[in-house]
Amino acid sequence: KRVVVLISGRGSNMQALIAATMDPSFPGQIVGVIANKPDAPGLETARRHDIAAIPVDQKAYDSREAHEAAVLDALAELDPDIVCLAGYMRLLSATFVQRYAGRLINIHPSLLPLFPGLETHERALAAGMRIHGCTVHFVTERMDEGPIIAQAAIAVEAGDTPDTLSERLLRAEHRLYPHALKLILDGTVRMTNGRAVVESRR
Ligand code: GRF
Repeated sequence: KRVVVLISGRGSNMQALIAATMDPSFPGQIVGVIANKPDAPGLETARRHDIAAIPVDQKAYDSREAHEAAVLDALAELDPDIVCLAGYMRLLSATFVQRYAGRLINIHPSLLPLFPGLETHERALAAGMRIHGCTVHFVTERMDEGPIIAQAAIAVEAGDTPDTLSERLLRAEHRLYPHALKLILDGTVRMTNGRAVVESRR
């Protein structure tokens, strides 16, 4: 199956997906990476792996709609089965989300439905959480609210700062995202009537 990753920056989750998909037994391949910023470091990483790395510079378009239409065109060209958002820092329109409904997934650095949005590590610490985590979910029209595919939790340690916490969580993200992608690609989890349904293995 064909997988495209959308990024805005560093692309470490994208890199974890690339690494996982290089295993011949993995049920999908990354056929392209699209970034809304031409200087996203992840683009270079993708190129090093001989993956089509396509900048669609948001500054080159007059409106959010025009930029998104260009992203949709680039995506159509790559003809993905699954689209993975990995640190893609732009909200997607209803049109976009509906076009890829059930085939569009995102990783978010909190245990959703706790802490949607930004600064999740700061907020987990401020709330006195003893665990923190990450979530891979289907993308729906409401930000960070789609049905949950997979989650991983880590312990909050004494002395943790947002930086130490995010660094430790990032390692969990890198394990979780390939795992969750595999669940989608092999049909173990799918979105039906707005819910994530897990195939029972009896
Ligand atoms: C990750 O923390 C991810 O959970 C969030 O944005 C960050 C992206 O990091 N959505 P990277 O670009 O994958 O390194």
